[in-house]
Amino acid sequence: MSSAANRAAALFKSEFGGEGRGFFAPGRVNLIGEHIDYNGGRVMPCSLSIGTYAAARRADGRIRLVSADLPGQNAEVALDELSSLPLTPGAFRRFGWAAYPLGVAAQLIIRGYPVGGFDMAVCGDLPRGSGLSSSASLEVLTCAVLDGLYGPWLDGRQAAEVSLAAEHECAGVNCGIMDQFVCAAGVKGHALLLDTHTLDFEYEPFDLDGDVLLIMNTKKPRKLTDSKYNERRGECDEALAAINSVLETPRDALCAVTLGELDACRAVLSPVLFRRARHAVTENERTLAAAQALRRGDNAELGRLLTASHDSLRYDYEVTGGHLDAIVDAALMQEGVLGARMTGAGFGGCAIALCRADRAGDVSRETARVYLEKTGIKCEIIPVQTGSSPFGKA
Ligand code: GLA
Repeated sequence: MSSAANRAAALFKSEFGGEGRGFFAPGRVNLIGEHIDYNGGRVMPCSLSIGTYAAARRADGRIRLVSADLPGQNAEVALDELSSLPLTPGAFRRFGWAAYPLGVAAQLIIRGYPVGGFDMAVCGDLPRGSGLSSSASLEVLTCAVLDGLYGPWLDGRQAAEVSLAAEHECAGVNCGIMDQFVCAAGVKGHALLLDTHTLDFEYEPFDLDGDVLLIMNTKKPRKLTDSKYNERRGECDEALAAINSVLETPRDALCAVTLGELDACRAVLSPVLFRRARHAVTENERTLAAAQALRRGDNAELGRLLTASHDSLRYDYEVTGGHLDAIVDAALMQEGVLGARMTGAGFGGCAIALCRADRAGDVSRETARVYLEKTGIKCEIIPVQTGSSPFGKA
């Protein structure tokens, strides 16, 4: 058992007495398809072997939640009270971290699932604030716990939709569905190619054959991310409205516009909105090309696409920032690196680099050294290990 799983089990015992049943939901890393899950684009994330663990048990009429990562920040609420709360961030704010699991329970209740009370102790092993989706992991974990204790009711897509509703309505973060989807439906040894417009998905065998993917954590705290995130979403909506004012057949998502059509609409877009839209359109194409490269084992092409994605996020979408650029540039200088890019929302958090397995040690050391010299921050570099999600089926 992992040490986080042990800590969850031990905390359960000391807080509630006896044994809880064990559950796990992974974190995620996105290979490619960034900032397009809210533009109807294709994304290709992987579920990780690290994530969030729970020990949980049915209880009568109330929910009690404790976290080994946030000692003392316990939450307790009667099921009746939870059922009567409005589904707004304002109503859930007082629960702190527990707004995520309570938001999921409330979303299941409102959908008519016969949710009962429960006690749950959680513990995570995702590096904190790293942008590897600790909140989606916790939401999906709660779906798995309630589905396991009172269900079964849910498949991966339903668990993702319930988790996303909790994130939007109870936590107040207006994200796309990528993180919740892959944390719910990812499968070990595979990337998940998801069409965020239709929610159709395929599992792509994630076999890098002699190469490895490194996760490089900049350790740069992410402060402005949320406001910039919403700002980018707003810019994409504005760009789509302007494009639709010109196109004969309006589109319901930015990624449904072709590059040719976008060029033809240049006159109605400000230079900034044009670049935002160009990122969305080209990133969608890169994701499909990357899935094909992965399928035919063309890692050189996959690496090229990763770096092109970073450049687009850096210059067109402007969500990288100095720390992510520094770590990606440092990695790209190293022999044996095929490509590198930021991953997740940006402005801090993690980047990834694809590199020859026999070079991974030197690449990690040298990248960390150059990054430290440039930023004064010690980064952390680990190889990606994929893991399975509670609702994933290959
Ligand atoms: C965050 C959001 C996702 C997605 C990424 C960027 O992780 O939660 O929905 O938009 O940023 O690709």
